[in-house]
Amino acid sequence: MIQITTPQELQQYRNNLPHAETVGFVPTMGALHEGHISLIKRSVSENDKTIVSIFVNPTQFLPGEDLDAYPRKLEADLKICELAGVDSLFTPSTDAVYSWEEPTVKAPKIKGYILEGYHRPGHFDGVLQIVLKLLNLTRPTRAYFGKKDAQQLYLIQNMVHTLYLGTEIVPCEIVREKDGLALSSRNVYLGDEERQKALLLSRSLKHATRRIIEGERDTERIKQEMVEILSPTRVEYVEIVDRDFNLLHEVQIENTIILVAAYVGTTRLIDNMWV
Ligand code: PAJ
Repeated sequence: MIQITTPQELQQYRNNLPHAETVGFVPTMGALHEGHISLIKRSVSENDKTIVSIFVNPTQFLPGEDLDAYPRKLEADLKICELAGVDSLFTPSTDAVYSWEEPTVKAPKIKGYILEGYHRPGHFDGVLQIVLKLLNLTRPTRAYFGKKDAQQLYLIQNMVHTLYLGTEIVPCEIVREKDGLALSSRNVYLGDEERQKALLLSRSLKHATRRIIEGERDTERIKQEMVEILSPTRVEYVEIVDRDFNLLHEVQIENTIILVAAYVGTTRLIDNMWV
């Protein structure tokens, strides 16, 4: 595995790959866990070469968010990537990626500013800015994203489609702990008691799926029951949307995503279930 730290080197590396080879790309912010590893392994198995990036992207953090506290574990991450069969690992500094003045990307006015985008205004502008840069540098055949960040996945698919980027976006299943907690780099912030409360997110989603299997279709009723289950946490939103992030009054089987964002203590967690 080679480690690359500048965009110029990455461009050169990409240009020197044989044309016939397929390239898989997995962008991350590091502190790699089994969720990230599942994306990386899938890319390694489906492509001739796999590029992983580790970059804690400052433009997607709002003032007052956890940019400085965000876990950084480069040594361990290097080993994980090496063992997983990654060919090249891109670990740039902020200064290498951003210049003092440059054009910016704006997330779509509605879908980029509801739900996550409403509570973290501008977050998706930063995500799309960095993902566009990374896709331009790596020009991958396929890029791998987790369903864990469902709205991010949707907005990236939308950007790739509308800006004709020509990469296949591969949605990957959410990896969970045995007890249901969705893996997240932010789980390290949770104390023992908080971790128990954090389970309520996946429990509320399981409850919703059970109610849907029983025949419930009214999204208001489902959301209300979820909010009750989540009451020991500070709920930011519980919402039910279709796969294009339009709000739904009635569940549409195979076209529905149930989303939740809640604070457990000072830690903000998100989770979702695709129905
Ligand atoms: P990060 O939070 O590090 O996540 C990197 C990728 O791993 C994302 O596609 C995310 O959805 C996926 N992922 C995280 N937890 C997962 C889980 N439990 N199961 C499956 N996949 C999971 O998302 C970002 O970084 C950034 O916004 C990024 C796209 C890298 C742009 O900076």
